[in-house]
Amino acid sequence: MSTVKEKLIENLIGEEKISQSKITIVGTGAVGMACAICILLKDLADELALVDVAVDKLKGETMDLQHGSLFFNTPKITSGKDYSVSANSKLVIVTAGARQQEGESRLALVQRNVNIMKSIIPTIVHHSPDCKMLIVSNPVDILTYVVWKLSGLPATRVIGSGCNLDSARFRYLIGEKLGVHPTSCHGWIIGEHGDSSVPLWSGVNVAGVALKSLDPKLGTDSDKDQWKNIHKQVIDSGYLNLGSLEVECISPKPCYWE
Ligand SMILES: NC(=O)c1ccc[n+]([C@@H]2O[C@H](COP(=O)([O-])OP(=O)(O)OC[C@H]3O[C@@H](n4cnc5c(N)ncnc54)[C@H](O)[C@@H]3O)[C@@H](O)[C@H]2O)c1
Repeated sequence: MSTVKEKLIENLIGEEKISQSKITIVGTGAVGMACAICILLKDLADELALVDVAVDKLKGETMDLQHGSLFFNTPKITSGKDYSVSANSKLVIVTAGARQQEGESRLALVQRNVNIMKSIIPTIVHHSPDCKMLIVSNPVDILTYVVWKLSGLPATRVIGSGCNLDSARFRYLIGEKLGVHPTSCHGWIIGEHGDSSVPLWSGVNVAGVALKSLDPKLGTDSDKDQWKNIHKQVIDSGYLNLGSLEVECISPKPCYWE
């Protein structure tokens, strides 16, 4: 007796479809789920896999995404505690680990998160030897180096999110000060993500007009507009809302990581 499915669908190909652009997110906290929603809304993957040690949370987050499938074009959303769900990924985004407690610097997280990387990275590479890795967990620059060493992958395949978040915040705050949308405000923050980052005032421009050409003192102590406070705000914003919902907005789309 055939089932309704058997009567409705005849499988002519007979082989399981292999994902071409599978992305795995490790860590389904605030950052991991922000990544997941960005990936789904931007149609970046034909399969999205989620991995976390907190199985109840993982199940709940996965169900929320799966039940939203009507609004996405990604046909397969899977999850599990076991890294076999991540097999054959093209990109693995690592957001797992501890985040700062109130008053704690990113650097204070280093040993806890290095230990987590030691436990997860070899398994990720075992299941997806051809993947690229995008590291977000903090302290991100140190962990990116650690993951590169642990993974044995070429340096070109292990990428840290670096100062992308800092630069995005910088551009937003420049835009807010000028009343201009951040897409027209350009500027970069370089160095280590967070407290010791460096703003490049010489590169700050709005639609190609360098702000330094309008005020050569821009970003210095003698700048009467005190633009350097914007960089302070960028740093301080990493410490806001800790203990509540800290969703630092990131997008995994490559062109956004400028
Ligand atoms: N690079 C950046 O710009 C940037 C921005 C924001 C946050 N972060 C960092 O990203 C990380 C995540 O932040 P969050 O706010 O999402 O934290 P969170 O506490 O909300 O989520 C972390 C998740 O990691 C999971 N996890 C812990 N150990 C794990 C393991 N061994 N294997 C798999 N999953 C594990 C936890 O269960 C949790 O779900 C933190 O280290 C944070 O400092 C970086």
